[in-house]
Amino acid sequence: MGLKAVTRLDVWLVAQRLFSSRQSAKRAIRSGLVIVNGRVAKPSTQVSGNEHIVVLSPHADRPRGYEKLRCLLNLVGIVPSRQAYAIDIGSSAGGFLKFLGEAGVRVIGIEVSPRFLRELSLVSAAHSSVSVVLADAFRLPTEALRVSVDLLLVDVTTTPSGTIKLIERYAHLVRPDGHVIAAIKARPTPQTVNHFRMGTASSRFCSFRAVVLDTNTQEFHVVVRVSAP
Ligand SMILES: C[S@@+](CC[C@H](N)C(=O)[O-])C[C@H]1O[C@@H](n2cnc3c(N)ncnc32)[C@H](O)[C@@H]1O
Repeated sequence: MGLKAVTRLDVWLVAQRLFSSRQSAKRAIRSGLVIVNGRVAKPSTQVSGNEHIVVLSPHADRPRGYEKLRCLLNLVGIVPSRQAYAIDIGSSAGGFLKFLGEAGVRVIGIEVSPRFLRELSLVSAAHSSVSVVLADAFRLPTEALRVSVDLLLVDVTTTPSGTIKLIERYAHLVRPDGHVIAAIKARPTPQTVNHFRMGTASSRFCSFRAVVLDTNTQEFHVVVRVSAP
């Protein structure tokens, strides 16, 4: 019998299709969710497949964004329905898309980086209501999307002014009574929150809320509702 090749645990988990990306495999391993021969392992632990390898949580493969959006919608009391339509700007590895896809929401993800193409293709293949456009959201002609949506999600690595620009560009696609939820990559001080309150002050928006999910990160979310007709 030949010797089995030895490889890193995170690489092995993806090769065995137990995880969709090395990123999520590493996160689960570092959270202590992967046990090799009875011991908590490291991403670099060398394995051949002959070991006793256990993934403790069935949800360990969820991308980070999945839990984030679940908590966020829960906190602000938005329950996505199967009839809902959404746009997700800055889809990354597809955490938001996966959550919305599982809820049956029809959602278009917009992501600029081809780095995430593989993960995004897996999410759209698994959920027929999810589609992805690989484009720069600052340049994409919004009319080309041909939708009006109940939920606009903006989670883009950009400046606070960049986020406001994106809200302005896409807000006309949001239906009356729909919501815009945007992640702001800044500490939620009275000044930064007020910057957004002013930046989103438009006759179309009728409520403004700032939400902090994790006090350890330099991020908060603003939730605005589009006025009813
Ligand atoms: C914080 S991540 C978003 C995480 C995501 N919401 C999730 O579900 O995991 C920010 C993403 O914005 C993307 N991005 C940055 N600039 C962009 C642009 N101009 N157009 C579209 N996406 C952009 C980045 O490539 C990155 O994947």
